[in-house]
Amino acid sequence: MIIAMDGPAASGKGTLAKQLASHYGLGHLDTGALYRAVARDMLAGGRDLDDEVAAAQTARNIDPETLEDPGLRTAAMGEAASLVAKLPQVREALVEYQRAFARRPGGAVIEGRDIGTVVCPDADVKIFVEASAQVRAKRRHKELIEAGQDIAYEEIHAQIAARDALDRSRAVSPLVPAQDAHLLDTSDLGIEAALKAAVKLIDSVIR
Ligand code: CDP
Repeated sequence: MIIAMDGPAASGKGTLAKQLASHYGLGHLDTGALYRAVARDMLAGGRDLDDEVAAAQTARNIDPETLEDPGLRTAAMGEAASLVAKLPQVREALVEYQRAFARRPGGAVIEGRDIGTVVCPDADVKIFVEASAQVRAKRRHKELIEAGQDIAYEEIHAQIAARDALDRSRAVSPLVPAQDAHLLDTSDLGIEAALKAAVKLIDSVIR
């Protein structure tokens, strides 16, 4: 079974994707980490983030062992990821890795922005996770503060709004629900309630 989960920044899809993977015994891939890793490696190499040829080359050479690097989870890396993510050659370089992961024999939960539309258009279940901009900014702020980063709520709110606008308006693979995606609004749902709602939805689709 392949579950495609898309949605804007801090909508809760990361937490949910991990829990769903463990609930159904599936593999889990956070594709945002791939874009964040491209941004990290470009910055480390002193490259401009709009250098498409260098970014595509960097994308082809990502070391999967480095995708858990806590340095990927900063607000600055999220912004930088969004810049490299709009480059068509970068997306093309990363799509095969994502599809290969999806083809794993045990199945997978794959989360990102274009999983249901581009990476896995034939996924068994597609969920588009939403939450109000205010709730998402609050969640991300709490997460970053807990990780020891010193950043104001207002700054996070502005950054998330700017990143979502960029992700939604880009020409290639914009953030948009697939036509056959099920919408799940987690604004008023805690972690457990969101998991329950997602499991109910998935079970109703696959049974
Ligand atoms: O965790 P959060 O939702 O804030 O972001 P993320 O999923 O780590 O993604 C970081 C950035 O990578 C996004 O803002 C997108 O620009 C880009 N991305 C993408 O374009 N396509 C994906 N499948 C996943 C992420």
